[in-house]
Amino acid sequence: MAKKTVADINVKDKKVLMRCDFNVPLDDNCNITSDDRIVKALPTIKHLLDNGAALILMSHLGRPKGKKDPKLSLAPVAEKLSELLEEQIVLADDCIGEAVRQKADSLKPGECMLLENLRFHKEETIKDKAAKEDTQLREAKDKFAEQLAQLADIYVNDAFGTTHRDNASMYTVPVMMEQKPKVIGFLIEKELKFLGDTITNPEKPFVAILGGAKVSDKLGVIENLLDKVDIILIGGAMAYTFFKAEGKGIGESLCEDGFLDDATELLKQAKDLEKEIVLPTDNVIAKEIKQDAESKVVSGDIDSGWQGVDIGPETRKLFAEKLQNVKTIVWNGPMGIFEIPPFDEGTKALAQAVADATEKGARSIIGGGDSASAVKTLGLEDKVSHISTGGGASLEFLEGKKFKSLQVIDEK
Ligand code: 3PG
Repeated sequence: MAKKTVADINVKDKKVLMRCDFNVPLDDNCNITSDDRIVKALPTIKHLLDNGAALILMSHLGRPKGKKDPKLSLAPVAEKLSELLEEQIVLADDCIGEAVRQKADSLKPGECMLLENLRFHKEETIKDKAAKEDTQLREAKDKFAEQLAQLADIYVNDAFGTTHRDNASMYTVPVMMEQKPKVIGFLIEKELKFLGDTITNPEKPFVAILGGAKVSDKLGVIENLLDKVDIILIGGAMAYTFFKAEGKGIGESLCEDGFLDDATELLKQAKDLEKEIVLPTDNVIAKEIKQDAESKVVSGDIDSGWQGVDIGPETRKLFAEKLQNVKTIVWNGPMGIFEIPPFDEGTKALAQAVADATEKGARSIIGGGDSASAVKTLGLEDKVSHISTGGGASLEFLEGKKFKSLQVIDEK
């Protein structure tokens, strides 16, 4: 059933506590290097403010492990928000405590404040399983969550990137606000539409493109998608585990020997289901992983002393051909060592192919992380249907996992 959104409730003169994912990348001087997650939270924030809510925003930033770390303060986020909203957004000194409560109490309709990094308190990240097994942990997590819950009349979750976590602010707080409205924002609504609806009910032909270093990271995704897709294109270092499973020479390429049997089993399952798993037909191989390292393209076995670093030109062409006339594309993970040019060429070629297929009518969904960076670096952001703001969250979504943080949200 669909979840209630901010558009389904009356927020006028109400105190609203909204969980965002402002876990943005920062440089060494704490400057935000991508404000994507902040910009994408704006529609919900503006909707709430325009409709007369007094808005309390909360988020984590990084993994400070329960310690106050000035480098992980949300101050740069407050500054960016002030700039984008064209009004001063006050950053509280903390996320709980008497001073925060007083500030929240005095907040007027149409005003907005940001709480300091939730993860400055270790209680935020106590796992629910641990809390169930240990009374002290449960009491600590509950006490922390209760202080947040007491700040508002309504709970809004728009932190898609964190939906796979059972952090206090994601799960325990809405549980504690049981009699109060608990809804999602427009960002989560959009992510659920693309990652949920599209994948549950894809228009065919449906192609999944999977890359990245580890096959173990993508096993759950392949298992979940196998009966839904028509074709799976596999690139990145995870392809070498499949090569080895097929008895091919992979030289010094990355390989997860513990997952060779799983790779074999997946290839067999795909065959039984008459699904096509397409592995690279040629690879760029290098002697070392560094810029300007000696490299060449090979089809077939990789000799010892060499390692695979990218899909080759023939594979780029083949993968682009497989995207012709498809209706749904899901892509997660780079095709090569994207951060070291020229080993980013395969990923870039694929980004272009996905954009071209989108122009011809395919619905394309890009999981977060490196595949999203590739699309953005090439300026193709507007040429794909959806780029998820979630890294781990989008991956777990593709694995078909159910998130507790969403289960506690009111249904329509
Ligand atoms: C992310 O960036 O994937 C989310 O903000 C979650 O962060 P976490 O992995 O530290 O929980």
